[in-house]
Formats: sequence, structure tokens, C-alpha cells
Amino acid sequence: MVAVTKLRAADRHGEHMASLESIISVRGINKVYPGQVHALKDVDLDFPAGALTTLLGPSGCGKTTLLKIIAGLLEPNTGDVLVKGRKVTAPGPERAFVFQDFALLPWATVLRNVGFGLELRGMAETKRNEIARRYIDQVGLSGFEDKYPHELSGGMRQRVGLARALAVDADVLLLDEPFSAVDEQNRRKFQEDLLRLREIERKTFIFVTHSIEEAVYLSDRIVLLSRRPGRVSQVITPQIDRSGSPEEIRRDRAYLDTVEEIWQGLRQFVD
Ligand SMILES: Nc1ncnc2c1ncn2[C@@H]1O[C@H](COP(=O)(O)OP(=O)(O)OP(=O)(O)O)[C@@H](O)[C@H]1O
Ligand SMILES: [Mg+2]
Repeated sequence: MVAVTKLRAADRHGEHMASLESIISVRGINKVYPGQVHALKDVDLDFPAGALTTLLGPSGCGKTTLLKIIAGLLEPNTGDVLVKGRKVTAPGPERAFVFQDFALLPWATVLRNVGFGLELRGMAETKRNEIARRYIDQVGLSGFEDKYPHELSGGMRQRVGLARALAVDADVLLLDEPFSAVDEQNRRKFQEDLLRLREIERKTFIFVTHSIEEAVYLSDRIVLLSRRPGRVSQVITPQIDRSGSPEEIRRDRAYLDTVEEIWQGLRQFVD
């Protein structure tokens, strides 16, 4: 764990050097739902490759909407989504979405659920099961391959969702409040797992949460969105030394100051 976090600190330096390289860009996004619900207004954002960017903002400000637009699951009224500079209008193998409610197949085992994205791509069963088992192991679910979703706790189901997203080997993982349905203890464990997986997998994460603390703990960049219609209010780059233990990080001055800065930034949007 120590080696991993040290490496992370070194990488973070490199990442700032490469901060101009964005894997996803959104340009001029507006989304108006039927009934004149203006969910997103003039959103321009760049998501650097290899970074974890968190979208934070009041309920209903359009976070899920933006994630779905990036995933290609929802069409904006105006604006474009670019992946590595190329315009996309539909889902693609380079982007994987982990839904707020995990969307597991209830009739399929953990093994099949995790391998499902690969099955859809026509990968042979032996090969996809081998890959699925690797990710089941990575998220700490070894021994549960043959269980069904209803036999798992909420936290375990989330792990299945995460393993499925990792298994398709997308460059970008879109995570919509993946920790919302678990207790605080599991949530913290999950946060550790996510930081660890980031090191192993070198992916770009776009993450939605309601928790300021979670955002600061995990993120390289935090995008604050205003109340609906959601627009980019502020982009914060926490400068946190993550080489210590989780407890040390949460007591770190920079961590606490960033939490306060974000709280001040979001205050204006709370009634
Ligand atoms: N299919 C839809 N039809 C009409 N309005 C919608 C639809 N989906 C979302 N909205 C509205 O658009 C706005 C943004 O919704 P969205 O789900 O993106 O917000 P959010 O930031 O993810 O909220 P939360 O934090 O509660 O998950 C909300 O006012 C919501 O009611
Ligand atoms: Mg949402």
C-alpha cells in the first residue's frame, strides 16, 4: 500500500505536466428535458487522461444528465462530446458506465454479470470468464462467482458493478454515486479500493458524489456545478499528500482546507 501511494504522489506530479491532454471534452452542452426543464447550461469541460474528476453539486443540478451525455446514452440539445478529439454520439467501448442503481442482471450469476460486457462483444466464454474472475478477485469477491445479485449485500452488488465496468477495459469509467447505498464503513473500504484500482488500472474516472469529503479524498479535480440549470461554477484541484494512512489524509491541513473551500463554494446553492 505504501509503495502504491508513493508511486501515486510521483504520478500526480507527472499528471500536472500532462494536464493539457484531455481524453474527454464536452463543448457547449445544453440539455432541456421535455416540460422545459433546463438541466444543463453551456457546459464546457475537459477531463484529463488518467485523472479522477468528480462532479459535485446540489441534487437535481444535472450530474447524472451530464454523465449520461458523456456516455452517449442521452443526446444534448446543443453541444458536443469529444473522445480523444473525435466527436461521439453513441456509447462506445472506451467508456463504461456504472449506474446509480448498478443495473445488474438479476437472473445471472456474479461471474456472468461481470463478464456481460464482454459477452455482448462476442468474446468466447472461456476467455471472458478468465477475465471476469480476475476482476472479481480485484474487487474482493472471490468465492462469490456463482451467487446471484439477490444473494449479495448492497456493497457487494456495487463491487460487481465496478468489476463489470473494469472488465470491459474501457479507458474511461463513469461512476454515478457508486457508494451511495452502502454504510459508512463499507464506503471507506470502497474508497480505498478505488484509489488502489486506479493505480493498477491507470484509467480515467469521472465520478459523481454528494459527499464533499469523499470528493476531496479521491479526486485530482473537482467540478462544482451550480443549482439547476447546472453550469460549471468552479474547478478545484486539491493538492493533497496521499502518502499517509487514510486517517492521516483526513487530518491533513490541505484536505481540511479543501473541504472548507468547497463547502463555501457550494453554500450559495443551498436554500
Ligand atoms: N427524463 C427526464 N425527464 C424530465 N426531467 C428530467 C429527466 N431526467 C432528469 N430530469 C430533471 O433534470 C434535472 C437534472 O437531473 P439529474 O438526474 O441529472 O440531476 P442530478 O444532479 O443527478 O441529481 P441527484 O443528485 O439527485 O442525483 C432534475 O431537475 C430532474 O428532475
Ligand atoms: Mg444523479
